Amino acid sequence: MGDLGEGLSHYQRQGFCSFHTPGHKGRQEFFHDLNFCGFDLTELPGLDMLHSPSGIIAQAQKRSAQIFGANETYFLVNGGTVGNQAMFLALSGTTKHVVVERSSHRSVMSALVLSGFRPDYLSPVIHPEFNLPLGLDIEERLSWSEVSACHVTYPSYYGAGIDLQRLLAKRADLAPDMPVLVDQAHGSHFLGSLFPASALKLGADLVLHSTHKTLSALTQSAMLHVQGSRVSRARLRQSLELLQSSSPSYLLLASLERAGEYALEIERWEPLREEVEKLHSTVGERFRILSQKDVGTYGIHSVDWSKVLINTLPLGVSASHCVEFLRKDFGLEPELWDEENILFLIGIGNTPEDIRRLTKGLDHLANRTLSSNTKDFKRQNARRIVTSLPPQILTPREAFLAKKRQIPLRESLGYIVGETISPYPPGIPIVVMGEQMTPEVLETLLMVGKGHWQGWQGFETQTIWIIEEEQGMS
Ligand SMILES: Cc1ncc(COP(=O)(O)O)c(C=O)c1O
Repeated sequence: MGDLGEGLSHYQRQGFCSFHTPGHKGRQEFFHDLNFCGFDLTELPGLDMLHSPSGIIAQAQKRSAQIFGANETYFLVNGGTVGNQAMFLALSGTTKHVVVERSSHRSVMSALVLSGFRPDYLSPVIHPEFNLPLGLDIEERLSWSEVSACHVTYPSYYGAGIDLQRLLAKRADLAPDMPVLVDQAHGSHFLGSLFPASALKLGADLVLHSTHKTLSALTQSAMLHVQGSRVSRARLRQSLELLQSSSPSYLLLASLERAGEYALEIERWEPLREEVEKLHSTVGERFRILSQKDVGTYGIHSVDWSKVLINTLPLGVSASHCVEFLRKDFGLEPELWDEENILFLIGIGNTPEDIRRLTKGLDHLANRTLSSNTKDFKRQNARRIVTSLPPQILTPREAFLAKKRQIPLRESLGYIVGETISPYPPGIPIVVMGEQMTPEVLETLLMVGKGHWQGWQGFETQTIWIIEEEQGMS
């Protein structure tokens, strides 16, 4: 076996209990009728074509549209990423001004490069206890007369939902033709009364599901749902044809079809929710856990119980210290963590036993920490998020295509930045390509230490790409 294969089988042998994507959690039951070798086929007679479906793929997409409440559904084989990109491209020629959350996933930033729109950013509301962008104040920034399309994320990676209903009601009053596009990558499972209402139910025009994240589809398979006629379906189809592979995997497509059927089995989630409630009552006093009590605060309008977001500050230990203990002693694998938060994702493939194991692990962790003398962790790095957005000189597309050079970070004040730099998590850009380097951004970049970075090639050498400015550019 090669290095990659060895790495995967070594990982699998460790037998971690998964609280990360994919949502099927490696359970065979979701794939019992999927013949992995036999079904890895291409567009052969009788197998239809993803880019112009009229047979079995069209039927499967139609069924998914019924299940999720859309007028039409497109299966995606390049992840939710391609759904965000296609949504923006489909607006080309009809829209100039797009409102986008600054805390959007990087696929939205790449969609801005591809589409060329000048974004009008909405700043997230940072929750002071979690130090994370959990909410959005819809009233604060939207200037309805100037906006021609709006893209929002609902729910966030962490399970907090913005007041999408209010946004859509305002759209109906003030800008009835304005398309509202929703990245519901983390909420494909929003069906039935156990979860917040889905964006389709609330009336959004285009809705993206990363079906692999919480439902049972194979990694990289996703869906783009459409309702109404505010966005041209012909343009949407053309965009998907432009962006998606010409050899779509039938395994991914078949897993999407099955994921829709399993999503209807709402009763799978009921025992999981009961266990999550027990988790809150067992350890909720000792950690800070995002919960229904947070609804109505800091721009949070709903909380999805299937995302367990735990802040470790009340315990006085770092999140990485806690993760080390939970992985080693309890075999628990979270989705992500930063200095002070850990996120556990529950998917349709989790069992009540998994959640009991999580509760037990957290309980032991809290008892062990509270009885020891190692409680000296404090928030050190509150500056991973800038408070004032830097001036946008070039659009992300103009900046992407411009001539660039690398210079020492310390000398970059006033230059137009040529790369998008985000600490991950939470993945909110400190600076987006095309923006000017301000003292606050520079100070933040100089201060933040090692960690995971999205899009900063020069972290080790403390250099940054800037745009070669031509005469008259300002
Ligand atoms: C909010 C959000 N949108 C879109 C995506 C992209 O989805 P995918 O990983 O399926 O390409 C992600 C991925 O993490 C995400 O967090």
